[in-house]
Amino acid sequence: MDTTDSPNVTQDTLGAPAGPCAMVIFGASGDLTKRLLIPAIYNLAAGKLLPEQLAIVGVAIENFSMDQFREQATKDIHQFATREVADELWSWFGKRIYYVAGDFKDPNLYSKLKDTLAQAEKEQGTKGNTLFYLAISPDFFPVVVQQLGAAGLTKQEDEKWKRVVIEKPFGHDLPSAIALNKTIGEVLEEKQIFRIDHYLGKETVQNIIAFRFANGIFEPVWNRRYVDHVQVTVSETLGVEQRGGYYETAGALRDMVPNHIFQLITLCAMEPPISFEAQAVHDEQTKILRAIQPLVPEQAVRGQYGAGEIDGKQVVAYRSEPHVAPDSQTPTFVAMALHIDNWRWAGVPFYLRTGKRMSKVATQIVVRFRRPPFILFRNTSVAKLAPNEIVINIQPDEGISLNFEAKVPGPVVRLGAVNMTFEYSEYFGSTPQTGYETLIYDCMMGDPTLFQRADMVEASWTVVQPILDAWKATPADDFPNYAAGSWGPEKSAELLRKDGREWRVPASGDGRHRPAGSGPEKKTG
Ligand code: BG6
Repeated sequence: MDTTDSPNVTQDTLGAPAGPCAMVIFGASGDLTKRLLIPAIYNLAAGKLLPEQLAIVGVAIENFSMDQFREQATKDIHQFATREVADELWSWFGKRIYYVAGDFKDPNLYSKLKDTLAQAEKEQGTKGNTLFYLAISPDFFPVVVQQLGAAGLTKQEDEKWKRVVIEKPFGHDLPSAIALNKTIGEVLEEKQIFRIDHYLGKETVQNIIAFRFANGIFEPVWNRRYVDHVQVTVSETLGVEQRGGYYETAGALRDMVPNHIFQLITLCAMEPPISFEAQAVHDEQTKILRAIQPLVPEQAVRGQYGAGEIDGKQVVAYRSEPHVAPDSQTPTFVAMALHIDNWRWAGVPFYLRTGKRMSKVATQIVVRFRRPPFILFRNTSVAKLAPNEIVINIQPDEGISLNFEAKVPGPVVRLGAVNMTFEYSEYFGSTPQTGYETLIYDCMMGDPTLFQRADMVEASWTVVQPILDAWKATPADDFPNYAAGSWGPEKSAELLRKDGREWRVPASGDGRHRPAGSGPEKKTG
């Protein structure tokens, strides 16, 4: 369902098609391209958000001819599209696909690419505007950018724009991120660089801004006077699958925290930006990152999964996964307590945890409010007042819920927990998306709001660097320390317990509408 048909949409959300351009995908034969990028571009075409004057140029090492690449893309789109593939639209699309084969390190590749882009400009009218998408291993980021620069392909002149999209991971620690920023900064201006974080492509993540700032009732209580603490959970049931090689060099902290989770935290914690322009939003996000108190090892917990059971099936320990060392020290779980030292948040901990092979798939932000004073209920049988909470469900069910207490009808004072839920799909309908549509469209439109600026990336690495250093210096002596299918190591629970708090367990159906009266009754009389 197109959301613009929904009676709940109050503004016209239909964008204009992007202007003429060629999109060059480095890594065109890889998984990201076939599973996400091409289906996303197809969805944009179906939504009439692509220009008529479009070319998609695949670049990879495989020696395909243009026709072979088009055939492969046709097979892939039928396998990975998130909507039915319309023959007419795909044939429009197919005519705009080109391919260049070669080694990313070889300057000849770039002269062939130059010729193909000239051909595409002539045939499709792309006007020399070019988006280079680096869907490749991070080792190649500097090489490709330098080669593009040397071939004159990134020069912006005569109103022709050139932009480069860089996938994560952007560096593997602070020094490497600084070095990468420097190298690509020698070739590109900052406004040409689009550092992608696919979490920002998720509707519910973008909705954090709307929820906080387009409503008058939440912002006044969004601070240390009313909020007790904030929890962010990103739990996955999958293990490392076939990605052991990459994951061994990354681990849960690098893979998820300075990027995806910090996006969630900064959007949740930032001050209202003076506008929704990229610079204003990025400035506020960066201020939060810089306000995080330097971490000490006691504020972080690492874990690695052992064998266990997921969805009734036995699964192996991380150390027995393919391409993983049998004595691996790589964490597959991390939990942390952060303190943001500013007027809004001083004294309000932000707890985060993420892990593979956990009990449930859930990404959620829980804003838990302070308990109300008890005096009113002192002479009743109410044992304890539950704190209110707002739960922002990012996935798998998308929505927001507000939990509060209500009196259970009857002569005795008894309280029941009520769960008021807004479910995204119920209100606005849903069209299955890959999550990359908005991001690709924004690159074509030149809007960097949902991308990471150089200083943000460096500020994020600065926060986690002390823990990376501490963990490198002291190997974990208890790995594996949580069973697959659990909620992580015991130390993660302790991290909150020592502050008198506990993790909220994501419930099945969080973010899904529940019939009235189906919430748990809290007890009391
Ligand atoms: C990627 C990580 O960036 O994000 C993966 O490299 C992780 O390890 C994935 O599984 C999670 O993304 P999503 O959209 O499935 O939550």
